[in-house]
Amino acid sequence: MKHTTAPLCDALRRFVEREQAPFYSPGHKGGRTLDPWFRANIAALDLNNLPDTDTLHCPEGPILEAERLIADAWRVGQSFMLVQGSTSGNIAMALAALKPGDPVLVQRNAHKSVVAGLIQSGASPIWLWPRWDGVFGVAHGLDAPRVEAAFAETPAKALWVLHPTYFGTTADIAALASACDRHGALLLVDGAHSPHFAFHPELPRPAEQSGAAATVQSVHKIISGLSQAAVLHIDPAKLDPAAVRRALQLIQTTSPHFAIMSSIDLARRQMMLDGRLLLDQTLDRARRTARRLAAIPGLQVLRPEHLAGAGTGLHQLDETKLLVGVSGLARDARAIVARLNRDHGVQPELGGTGHVLCITTIGNTERDMDRLVAGFAEVADHAGRRDAAGGSALIEDILAVPPEMVLTPREAFFAPDEAVPLADAVGRIAAEAITPYPPGIPLLMPGERLTRTIAGLLRALLDAGTPISASDPQLNQVRVVR
Ligand SMILES: Cc1ncc(COP(=O)(O)O)c(C=O)c1O
Repeated sequence: MKHTTAPLCDALRRFVEREQAPFYSPGHKGGRTLDPWFRANIAALDLNNLPDTDTLHCPEGPILEAERLIADAWRVGQSFMLVQGSTSGNIAMALAALKPGDPVLVQRNAHKSVVAGLIQSGASPIWLWPRWDGVFGVAHGLDAPRVEAAFAETPAKALWVLHPTYFGTTADIAALASACDRHGALLLVDGAHSPHFAFHPELPRPAEQSGAAATVQSVHKIISGLSQAAVLHIDPAKLDPAAVRRALQLIQTTSPHFAIMSSIDLARRQMMLDGRLLLDQTLDRARRTARRLAAIPGLQVLRPEHLAGAGTGLHQLDETKLLVGVSGLARDARAIVARLNRDHGVQPELGGTGHVLCITTIGNTERDMDRLVAGFAEVADHAGRRDAAGGSALIEDILAVPPEMVLTPREAFFAPDEAVPLADAVGRIAAEAITPYPPGIPLLMPGERLTRTIAGLLRALLDAGTPISASDPQLNQVRVVR
């Protein structure tokens, strides 16, 4: 073993020294948007819970004051600082709002931290399928009529939605909130990608001001938080603040990083003092770049003209995100992303089937945008055109599979399990999620029965070369409940 090396740090250093044009999170883009004193003193700010610094688990001093300012800035009843990302907020939300066995309507393209919240709380999900977009190859939000129909069938305790999706699209959050009101249910929101919505009128409507009982936001993803910086906003009339604090004490470290917490404090100050102007500039840069990218043969960019209207799962769009449709060039965008990185020093957030996602924030510059457009122009030229028609015929079949939940995610998590060949798994209960990309929506969740139809679809997906997320991506073995 070569202990003279530090492989992780070496890799990070090489990455940093290449000065990639950053189209990924965190939003500060290599520290560009951070307060100069803070940036120079991050190591000195790595402190402990001391009388002068306050304690995250039971704040009484500057942390409490900072949390009150956060609540005021986002215009909510109460806010909590998080140092373990939206992941911890989603889990805390579940533990504070749901009890074992509680029925909860959940958007099926939920982040894995939502599933973690279901496992930890023991709640019983009723999955709702989001609106599928075959052009860009992504799932959007929930159509309101689908939510209404689900409430009519099951008097659920809560509705748990994404606002926005990873790709920046939102459902009609006001319509979903009023459905919750009518059915006496709590609206729980994974708003990981929405910490900036409250600070610009041309961004989608903020869930935290639209009737949500709880909304979690990753301050690090879009505005000037360090990684792991997040906030949990609640309406204290709907969710007991003491229950939320208790849940957070169960989840969060007792040694929170003070630089992470300070970055939330400073991101709030920055948004309140300069947010409108900074986001004006960000939107303007992103809109101009979207037009330049869309003019490149083979590319299209998701824009407001693609929206589907009130009450739909594609109601609003965060235009700072550039979702670039590349199916006119290639089915799988991973090679495009690799070429942008290697040959152009441009790093997008991700490449999936038919799309590349670029996250632009207050930290990007005109030069970044020029590099992105030049990189895409060369990549498109190199790739040549292809007939975008066709896509994956299997997607409609995947989206039509009715889930058969036998155990709750919690029961499945704690059940003894074993790995068996796919053929032997037919009729058994899955102990893991299995998710093909596309559509990036689990075909199976832990606790659901793996039927003959599902096994057939999984074989067809493997034959088609569709990437599958599972403990064994080749599905030679599948984990099932014993
Ligand atoms: C939709 C969504 N929710 C929650 C999370 C978790 O956020 P964090 O990384 O801040 O824990 C993510 C992370 O990518 C996400 O995309």
